[in-house]
Parts: sequence; C-alpha cells; structure tokens
Amino acid sequence: MPFIHLLATGALGLASTALFAADKPGAQVYNETCIVCHNTGILHAPRMSDAKRWQKLVQEGLDELVPAALAGIRHMPPKGANPNLSDQEVANAVVWMVNQHGGQFATPTPEQVKAWRARADRRKKH
Ligand code: HEC
Repeated sequence: MPFIHLLATGALGLASTALFAADKPGAQVYNETCIVCHNTGILHAPRMSDAKRWQKLVQEGLDELVPAALAGIRHMPPKGANPNLSDQEVANAVVWMVNQHGGQFATPTPEQVKAWRARADRRKKH
C-alpha cells in the first residue's frame, strides 16, 4: 500500500516539524517582542546599546534574569507582555540578549527552564 505509506510518513513528517518549530530562537523572540522596549529603553528598560548597564546584568546571572523576565520586574511586564511566548522562548531571548554583551551561554535546557519557572512563581508571591 504505497499510497497509505506516503500519507503516514507525510503526517509524521509534519508532526515532527511542528514539534521542532515550537520554540523560537532567542534572536527571533527579541526581534518580535523584546525589541519594543529594549531597543529604545522606554520605561527605563536596559537598552541593548547600553553596554555598561548590561555588564552589570550579565554579572547578576541567568538565575536572576530569566525569572525576572518570566515574572516581570517593576515596569517590565511578565514575558514582555507577550503571553504567547513559552518559558523556553523567554529564556532563549534572555540568553541571546546576555550573549550580545559578553555572556557565553548555551541554549537553555528544559531542566533549567523548569527551575527558572519555579523561581519566577516564587517571586510573584512577594
Ligand atoms: C513593555 C516594555 C518591555 C518589553 C516588551 C520587554 N521588557 Fe524587559 N525590561 C523592561 C523594563 C522597564 C526593564 C527594567 C526593569 C527594572 O529593573 O526596573 C526590563 C528589564 C529586563 C531584564 C533585566 C531584569 C533584571 O533582573 O534586572 C531582562 C533580562 C529583560 N528585561 C528581558 C526581556 C525579554 C527577554 C523580553 C522579551 C521577551 C523583554 N524583556 C521585553 C521592559 C520591557
């Protein structure tokens, strides 16, 4: 039954493409969402061109920055006000931003993202 075989592999191919396409890379997330504030620095967001301010942020480390981006901090809304982003995508964007300023972090693992989500949820209660 070659036709059915084709259908089955076609459907499987689509399913796996969708799976791998699920989480956007950091640069894309930045350009679609975070850029709105972090390019111009509105609301006192750390501008991407502000090397000095980012140097300090890089030193705070991902365990501080990612939960802040997930939960929101002062005028920074949770997930940059884009609830369609997955936790992984927000983490990817933070890593990308930090890596523009001397950070050398790899794409976060699902385990890291889970730990950051737990920290973000604890922050929200304060
Ligand atoms: C609506 C404007 C806005 C958008 C959109 C936005 N941010 Fe922010 N962001 C801010 C502001 C304002 C701050 C500064 C918060 C403060 O420290 O007062 C900030 C701070 C941060 C920080 C530093 C947090 C810390 O611990 O000091 C990170 C990391 C960050 N944003 C990541 C992101 C990411 C990733 C996105 C996109 C998914 C994003 N932001 C989208 C406004 C925004």
